[in-house]
Formats: sequence, structure tokens, C-alpha cells
Amino acid sequence: MLKWSEDYKIGVLEIDNEHKEIIMRFEKLYSLMREGSGHDYYTEILLFLDDYINTHFSHEESLQKQINYPDYENHKKIHKAFSDDVIKMTKTKNNSPITNDDLIRLNLFVKNWLLNHILIEDKKIGEYLKNTDISD
Ligand SMILES: [Fe+2]
Repeated sequence: MLKWSEDYKIGVLEIDNEHKEIIMRFEKLYSLMREGSGHDYYTEILLFLDDYINTHFSHEESLQKQINYPDYENHKKIHKAFSDDVIKMTKTKNNSPITNDDLIRLNLFVKNWLLNHILIEDKKIGEYLKNTDISD
């Protein structure tokens, strides 16, 4: 089970709060799935992700621009790939009922993002901020 912890912090309140939000969504999906439900939550979490890829990614990208983050272009590409996947998932979800496979796939997709992106790539922004004097 993934929980929000200090490990996720990059030290910028808005970004940290948005990361907290996606982790909370994941926790909810995870516990619903353990109870054997979660099917009703599928659409809601996809809608959340659909908004997240626009709002959160643009917040993070403008922060990176503002601080002259050296890995900006690469980071942006990773965001784009994730966004494309979310859009694909939204498009392929027709009106058919949500299956367990759908839920498992979504669960892994978000989990993978938390572990490989937020904990690794986004943390690097925090490290960069810590080690760089951006006051001038
Ligand atoms: Fe990011």
C-alpha cells in the first residue's frame, strides 16, 4: 500500500498538494479493489486523471521553466507519454461495464506513475531546487 509521506515532497506546496491528491486517489482505488468494488470509481478516477494531465503537468512544467530546470525537455516528454496513455484509456472506455482487468490495469498504471515518476523524476526537481540558488 502506498501512502503519502515526506519522501514524496519536493518542497513546493502547490505541487506537493497535487501529488498528495493523486496518491489519495490511488489509496482509495486500492482499498475499494480490496473490498471487491472499485468499478464505480473507475470513471471518476479517469476523469480526475484527465484533468490532472492538464492542470498539474502545466503547473509542474511552468515551475521547471521558471527555475531553468536542466531536464525540462525530457520531463515534458514523460508527461506527454503519460497524457497520451490517459487519453487512450479514456477513449477506449466505451459504455461496456468495467471489468476486473480494467481496474487492475488502471491500478498498475497509477502505481507505476507514483513509483517511477513522482518518487524519482519529480523528486529530482526538489533536489535541484535544494541545490540551486534561484533567488537572483
Ligand atoms: Fe512530473
